[in-house]
Amino acid sequence: MITLGIETSCDDTSAAILENDSKVLSSIISSQDTIHEPFGGIVPELASRRHMECITLIVERSLCEARLSLGDISLVSVTQGPGLIGSLLVGFSYAKALSYTLKVPFVGVDHMTGHILSAFLEPEIPTFPYIALIASGGTTALYQVNGFMDCALLGRTRDDAAGEAYDKVARLLGLGYPGGPAIAGQALYGNDRSLRFPRAWLEDNSLDFSFSGLKTAVMNHCNQSSMKNENVDIAAVCASFQEAVADVLVEKSISAVRQKGLDTLVLGGGVSANDHLREQMTARCDREGIGLFLPDKKNCTDNGAMIAFSGLKRFQAGIVGTFADDVFSRSHLGR
Ligand code: KG4
Repeated sequence: MITLGIETSCDDTSAAILENDSKVLSSIISSQDTIHEPFGGIVPELASRRHMECITLIVERSLCEARLSLGDISLVSVTQGPGLIGSLLVGFSYAKALSYTLKVPFVGVDHMTGHILSAFLEPEIPTFPYIALIASGGTTALYQVNGFMDCALLGRTRDDAAGEAYDKVARLLGLGYPGGPAIAGQALYGNDRSLRFPRAWLEDNSLDFSFSGLKTAVMNHCNQSSMKNENVDIAAVCASFQEAVADVLVEKSISAVRQKGLDTLVLGGGVSANDHLREQMTARCDREGIGLFLPDKKNCTDNGAMIAFSGLKRFQAGIVGTFADDVFSRSHLGR
């Protein structure tokens, strides 16, 4: 069984070829970072136009690298939402057209499921049930995952996603887009205890997140420094900001595992590529005796392989797309 996975929910055009359940034959990602970098964030119209230019080439390259041709595809799996509607429509329409032309089924996938199941692309895979922390640019959420098709939303951000906070703080500091790697790079040279930024714990035992106050605190710190004619210590701000984000993500994830009486935690989404978060989470899970599954960094950010795997699982459960299906901007997964 050969599954082609297509992901165009935001600003990466990705395609991957999955053989049977777990063998990734190719995974191609065309990043749009240089297009959006001058704007400090994603410009939706530019994103969808770029997907249009790239999609055919990226699919062709994924097939070429897998040494296969279009006729070998048995299933097309594609992100149906959440994301930018214009971006989603490019991949989704392309997948429908391929399905029609090749006379093979297609299946639409919730992008969050891709992140939740991305650990299954690794040599060591988790067993159900587990807690998944998904921290990306679009959302930050905790799920209890009971099976490939069975998960419950435990908490999510009430305002900014963790990655969004990274991107906004990076823009504020003039570090460009995407903010995550830029802030992580600067943080290497700063002391993460030199500034004390707030952590939003919310109500007792709440598994929701909030990162907008943290972003505002960074902004206030920079404004106060400039009013006093002081230079902003960018490395210290980045290190302290990163520590504040990691603190909240680690504590809430451990709390979710404990509240649900489980012993396994899986990470996913672009922010889980962050080295500091990975170190903090690993140290804490080791101490608590929790099994931690960290996908390879290339499988944390958006990619077609996780979409291929999730679509395959849906197909195996008897789900197939229809040509009347439409894309959606918000996820209702697990609610
Ligand atoms: O999962 P993803 O690729 O796309 C979405 O579905 O949103 O996540 C992108 C987000 C961006 O906000 C980016 O700044 C952040 O992930 N990110 C990181 C790192 N790499 C990417 N954040 C912190 N540290 C990183 N190393």
